[in-house]
Amino acid sequence: MLIDCFGRRITYLRLSVTDRCDLRCRYCMAEDMTFLPRAQILTLEELYTLARVFVGLGVEKIRVTGGEPLVRRGGLNLIEDLGRLPLRELTLTTNGMRLAECARRLAAAGVRRLNVSLDSLDPKRFRRITRVGDLEQVLQGIEAARRAGFQRIKLNTVVLKGVNHDETTALVRFAVDRGLDISFIEEMPLGVIGDHDRAAAFYASDQVRADLERHFELLPTTERTGGPSRYWRVAGSDTRVGFISPHSHNFCGDCNRVRLTVEGRLLLCLGNEHSLDLRRILRRWPGDEDRLRRAIREAIGRKPERHHFDLREQPVILRHMNHTGG
Ligand code: GTP
Ligand code: 5AD
Ligand code: SF4
Repeated sequence: MLIDCFGRRITYLRLSVTDRCDLRCRYCMAEDMTFLPRAQILTLEELYTLARVFVGLGVEKIRVTGGEPLVRRGGLNLIEDLGRLPLRELTLTTNGMRLAECARRLAAAGVRRLNVSLDSLDPKRFRRITRVGDLEQVLQGIEAARRAGFQRIKLNTVVLKGVNHDETTALVRFAVDRGLDISFIEEMPLGVIGDHDRAAAFYASDQVRADLERHFELLPTTERTGGPSRYWRVAGSDTRVGFISPHSHNFCGDCNRVRLTVEGRLLLCLGNEHSLDLRRILRRWPGDEDRLRRAIREAIGRKPERHHFDLREQPVILRHMNHTGG
């Protein structure tokens, strides 16, 4: 069992399997991103070993992230291996670009819930936000996922004022029509992105909710999925609308998660640099799982209480989201 010094049980590992991506979303990456060289990233075997060790320490839920997890060569094999671990839940967050090809294998691997990023339903806008994305391809991916029989599919929308804040109603309607859930996310300031003014683009979750309540009846729920979203149900539908509000409603008090970057760095909090270099231990003492366990336990004791994001300041955290692991 992993418990930090604030009494929080760590049962959720966000496992990044690549820093690469086939999109370049403005809030996530700079336009001229450089990616990590092969020697610096964990092999699939190393990722699996670490996942197995975390499960032995009490992790019950693994979410595979990136970058875009489905661009990692052999990534689906890893997900299939993870699916055989004794987990309560194996999940994935994807941009949907490769979902049409991968959906069935993911479902067969034991992924029950799937999160797909979708920031706009307008092809030109979608391209503007993702810089290179193809909306139609993502929509086909979502359709393939619906046919593949996942228990729940959730859309993720990062809400940006002046860019897509006027589309939240259309996105909820899209979700309701298809029996999907949707979460609206306040952007987090990770990494410097030259051509994007984060303070100007901030649009608070409460404002999104007020906008939606002009069109839908939203019923509060106590449902949680083990992540930071707080959910409302759209009356008369199966759809839950979630809000991930790192700025306006801090959720660190009940944080249950840590992240493993593809470099093997265990990040104890998204918004702090406290970390542990697990790649070093893996490569210096191969096979010494006791040593890994001791180091992880000690690191969990150093998990910070909360993030201190401030959109008005230059980002304190210089790693971009794709290096961080969604
Ligand atoms: P569930 O695990 O099913 O609840 O999904 P989720 O919504 O937490 O996961 P997803 O990968 O879809 O992430 C949605 C957003 O929540 C992303 O922007 C994540 O970076 C953000 N997020 C997840 N965990 C944390 C966290 O601990 N702190 C902060 N600040 N953001 C987080
Ligand atoms: N702030 C908030 N969410 C972000 N994502 C990527 N970068 C950021 C950011 N800076 C979202 C993606 C995806 C999820 C993994 O994280 O849109 O849905
Ligand atoms: Fe890729 Fe996800 Fe970042 Fe967009 S948010 S560039 S899809 S890693």
